[in-house]
Amino acid sequence: MPTRRDLLRLAALAGAGATLPACGATGYDDAVAATWRHAAQAPAEPVALLRELVRYATLAASSHNTQPWRFALDAGAITIQADLSRRTPAVDPDDHHLWVSLGCAAENLTLAAAAFGRRAELEFDSRTRLIRLHLTPMDAVRSPLFQAIPQRQCSRADYDSQPLPAAELRALGSTANGPGVRALLLTDRGRIDAVTDFVIQGNSAQMRDAAFVRELKHWIRFGEREALATRDGLFARSSGNPATPRWLGSLLFGLLFTEKGETDRIVGQMRSSAGVIVFVARSERPAHWVEVGRAYQRFALLATSLGIRNAFVNQPVEVPALREQFAQWLGIDERRPDLLVRFGRGPLMPPSLRRPIDTVIGGPRALQAKAWSPNA
Ligand SMILES: Cc1cc2nc3c(=O)[nH]c(=O)nc-3n(C[C@H](O)[C@H](O)[C@H](O)COP(=O)(O)O)c2cc1C
Repeated sequence: MPTRRDLLRLAALAGAGATLPACGATGYDDAVAATWRHAAQAPAEPVALLRELVRYATLAASSHNTQPWRFALDAGAITIQADLSRRTPAVDPDDHHLWVSLGCAAENLTLAAAAFGRRAELEFDSRTRLIRLHLTPMDAVRSPLFQAIPQRQCSRADYDSQPLPAAELRALGSTANGPGVRALLLTDRGRIDAVTDFVIQGNSAQMRDAAFVRELKHWIRFGEREALATRDGLFARSSGNPATPRWLGSLLFGLLFTEKGETDRIVGQMRSSAGVIVFVARSERPAHWVEVGRAYQRFALLATSLGIRNAFVNQPVEVPALREQFAQWLGIDERRPDLLVRFGRGPLMPPSLRRPIDTVIGGPRALQAKAWSPNA
């Protein structure tokens, strides 16, 4: 009986065999370099400036890398609209993660606007659910958070197990608190172990949920060609798995994606982390979920600027019954824990890609698009 390690080695060999001759042709590294970069200079022409701000916004984190956003450009404003065709109803039935993702994009846009001499003030219209960023002139500020935008990533690796200095923890904690958002930083080993149990429970529940697994698989990009074709989704190598053609990746997914294997991986990742942070919004409304996204993105960018990695371990906040128990354990009463993120020093992983900005700039076309359903 081949072991998990044998199968992984086989997949790596087969994946290498499948991609080697075409490596130059697939150009994944070129696409990464073209995606994760700063602007050579501040664009002088107004429309070029707005487009550049959108490009920075798209470098934000998004759940399953769905990039569920569309942008409309005006003379003094950029509007962000949810692209509901990119919902993930199995993992995110109430669109919580979708709104958080839009908040992440809004924060990147705000930081980039400041770097190019524009103050961006966010207005959330609860009726239309549009996020409007009003732009007015200001002195340009290239903050450390802005500088970190092209380096940020969700690093799903083992970290170095070392604690972080108190000054860094204080800075991370205060950056993560925002309007209507509280951040709880846990660094005590016993508390982290207790959180690990919640993550394992949530992960096992999700793995037994056929709709969740189908949806996850739908968003995995097993190989470079596939990732390059869609420029969205979860690239296998970003999660530490070998790149393979889709047929092989799908086959191995069924064999390797086991509760035992995932539990071992989670335990290793959590033990190697310096701490976890929980983001809690004031209320369960999209406007506050957007603020959670902004707070997370600021946290992730500050961490990046300090050479600290982070990755989501959201399982306990994604399974409703477990979320309540997790809230009780945290002592946050009836509030909802929005995001759970681990952090520490560790290696970078191969980056994910983004869709070209021309595909995300435009009107409400996306609202009419047919949504994909995990139950279809
Ligand atoms: C609201 C939200 C929820 C997320 N949940 C998870 C998660 O549970 N597990 C995980 O590994 N990554 C999670 N991610 C990270 C995304 O998968 C990641 O941002 C995306 O793949 C793009 O990669 P990048 O952030 O490295 O650019 C989440 C991101 C957001 C914004």
